[in-house]
Amino acid sequence: MVLFIFFVWMLKLGRSEFHPQFPNYQVLLPHILCSRKFMFQAFKQFFFVEIQCEIAANAEMIIQRVVLNSRPGKNGVPVAENFRLEQSTIADTVQAGQVRVKTLYLSVDPYMRCRMNEDTGSDYLQPWQLSEVADGGGIGVVEESKHQNLARGDFVTSFTWPWQTAAILDGDLLQKLVPQLVNGRLSYFLGAAGITGLTALLGVREKGHVATGANQTMVVSGAAGACGSLAGQIGRLEGCSRVVGIAGTDEKCSVLVQEMGFDAAINYKKGDVAKQLRELCPRGVDVYFDNVGGDISDTVISQMNQNSHIILCGQISQYNKDVPYPPPLPPDTEKIQKERNITRERFLVLNYMDKQEASVLQLCQWIQEGKLKVRETVVEGLANIGAAFQSMMNGGNIGKQIVLVSK
Ligand SMILES: NC(=O)c1ccc[n+]([C@@H]2O[C@H](COP(=O)([O-])OP(=O)(O)OC[C@H]3O[C@@H](n4cnc5c(N)ncnc54)[C@H](OP(=O)(O)O)[C@@H]3O)[C@@H](O)[C@H]2O)c1
Repeated sequence: MVLFIFFVWMLKLGRSEFHPQFPNYQVLLPHILCSRKFMFQAFKQFFFVEIQCEIAANAEMIIQRVVLNSRPGKNGVPVAENFRLEQSTIADTVQAGQVRVKTLYLSVDPYMRCRMNEDTGSDYLQPWQLSEVADGGGIGVVEESKHQNLARGDFVTSFTWPWQTAAILDGDLLQKLVPQLVNGRLSYFLGAAGITGLTALLGVREKGHVATGANQTMVVSGAAGACGSLAGQIGRLEGCSRVVGIAGTDEKCSVLVQEMGFDAAINYKKGDVAKQLRELCPRGVDVYFDNVGGDISDTVISQMNQNSHIILCGQISQYNKDVPYPPPLPPDTEKIQKERNITRERFLVLNYMDKQEASVLQLCQWIQEGKLKVRETVVEGLANIGAAFQSMMNGGNIGKQIVLVSK
């Protein structure tokens, strides 16, 4: 049988590959059969092709992935070229307990800046390794499953999703998503109904001391970013009577007031922030949701009331500096903080994961009711994830920055 196939294949080969100018192989048959050199080559090619097909069928699938190309250095500004797109492979078969997923969305976040350093400065963050695939929040769809609770077509998420177009993952480490909870907007599970929304909600609830009817004024820095845009709205939903945002462009300020229901917004790159704050917060500041630190925070703290509260969410203005987290306040600001008994406890959303489920349901309910307005900046293509990260670190996004990998 094999010999017969070989014979027929050899004739076809004689016609189409070796002698394309002679389409009628019968004319060539004597020549083909007499050529020992040809016979040897044909034999070799026949089995080589067979073996290759075998490998392709069993072993690997070609994917695209993004690795860390270089480190910006602790005091450097990260750029797109710190990442590199390359082709790689994954196994074509999944083992028991595993699933093969296609990546749909990836998240880029400020904390990733620390992962670009050899030493992240925190015990809960691992550094990315040079030439190894980066990872973070991601969403995908199951294409093949050998996990008892996951089936083909399920949407799943993880905090440690590899930056690649497809992957084989441990099913136990994935959370199944219910798209109906977010009106089918799956990417919201990386933002408003994901870790970003949880950060805003739990930050306000755990550290904000917001009380309905207390007539509190809240100020949010980094207000048009992913966390900030939600934190201000949540502050209002939880009872603050006045919410003022601080952001870096007029467009962002306009979105905050027109779309997100902030009472006012200050463009910190224009004019006198302290003066505008005094005008816009005539009763002083009771709650400060701090995303940025630095000069902006010193200015806000100087206008905070006695027994008021800072929600120490992040200090993005300090992330390209080799300083400890949280960075100590300058002496004058620290004096004010102590004299006015302003709380400034470190907040880390990961410490409140026991409240995750109930909090996500709360966020989804607000989204469905239209009480929480969501903005996303979507960048298309895995190849552009480095540029998306760079842009996000420079404040280029409104709301959550998402990378769409495949539809
Ligand atoms: N504690 C936690 O558990 C937790 C969890 C998640 C995130 N975070 C932190 O929360 C903060 C916000 O995260 P995110 O996801 O909302 O990020 P994001 O979407 O990038 O928003 C950050 C905002 O800060 C502003 N900003 C950037 N650099 C600034 C600077 N030097 N001075 C003033 N403003 C600057 C940016 O725009 P403009 O400058 O144009 O206003 C941007 O809108 C980050 O510090 C992050 O590390 C903390």
